[in-house]
Amino acid sequence: MSRLDHHAAPPAAVMMELMMGAWIAQSITAAVDLGVADALEDGPASGDELARQLGVDADALKRVLRALIGIGIFRKRRDGRYELNALADTLRTESPVSMAGMARWVGSPQHREHWSHLTDAIRTGNAVVPAVRGKPVFEYLAGEAELAEIFNAAMTGVSDFAIAPVVAAYDFTGFDTIVDVGGGHGRLLTAILESAPQARGVLFDLPEVVAKAPALLRKHGIEKRVHIVGGSFFDAVPAGADAYVLKNVIHDWPDDDAVRILRTVRAAAGPNARVLLIEFVIPDHDRNFHGKWVDIEMLVVANARERTAAEYGRLFTQTGFRLNQVVDTVGPISVVEAIAV
Ligand SMILES: C[S@@+](CC[C@H](N)C(=O)[O-])C[C@H]1O[C@@H](n2cnc3c(N)ncnc32)[C@H](O)[C@@H]1O
Repeated sequence: MSRLDHHAAPPAAVMMELMMGAWIAQSITAAVDLGVADALEDGPASGDELARQLGVDADALKRVLRALIGIGIFRKRRDGRYELNALADTLRTESPVSMAGMARWVGSPQHREHWSHLTDAIRTGNAVVPAVRGKPVFEYLAGEAELAEIFNAAMTGVSDFAIAPVVAAYDFTGFDTIVDVGGGHGRLLTAILESAPQARGVLFDLPEVVAKAPALLRKHGIEKRVHIVGGSFFDAVPAGADAYVLKNVIHDWPDDDAVRILRTVRAAAGPNARVLLIEFVIPDHDRNFHGKWVDIEMLVVANARERTAAEYGRLFTQTGFRLNQVVDTVGPISVVEAIAV
């Protein structure tokens, strides 16, 4: 429908509306930063009540809510009170698939600053974060505790988003031990182990990241089946598993680093082990695709990239794996399966 609208409307108006996406995104971030959706979790509230509870200016809050309601986020009842609707519910911190972390990440002053340098990234072909912060993104995050927590919450949220399609599309029941390399706080591994009750899991990520994992694993009652290991995938990853999952990890790195990571995985993997990259595989068509935008995020953040199936195939050939199949899901994410040779 929106593509039809775009053909019917004056091009300048369509362009203006597309650019307003930045204002919409920042208003969503502000609503999450202030905890508006969390405050409505127990029921409707008037604008003045909400403003008092959140300690904000009532007029400004009502204006932002008016704009958001116009595009379907939050609802105003006949009695004038505000309430959650399905879209607003995704902005609650404890929503089953919460977009709160991602909203706080994309609208954070630091992330906004990074994207403001996209023009330079295109001029130079170099990522913004190392240029602006003087260090690669994960080193930068290691020194920014609050931003790192927001980033990890964003990753947990997008994992939640991808979990149902991935677990429905790919059968994990044939594996004994599954290592989630760069697995964050373990949300994806939890779901994989729930779908494969016989398997054991190993959660591997940087020490400061896995330190926060036990709480999430306990929440899902899965802690006894998961061994947590902190370390760097440039040095070594846990050995001897029959499956190595890397979700949205290889896309964080340029080709030479991606090759180093896959070689480390190959050194740990036994013969016939599977490596499963869960990524937005860039399709051949010229239509809009979620992964084409995440690809720009990768350029800004790390001079990294989303790849086509053929590009993944070439990375595998260089690292002792053979591309076996690409399993599409109902979402934009796919499972790229390779076998150790
Ligand atoms: C984009 S996030 C993806 C997280 C998770 N797989 C997901 O999809 O939600 C990339 C992950 O790689 C981890 N990471 C970055 N550098 C690493 C390293 N050198 N060794 C291990 N993990 C690393 C980060 O801490 C982060 O959890």
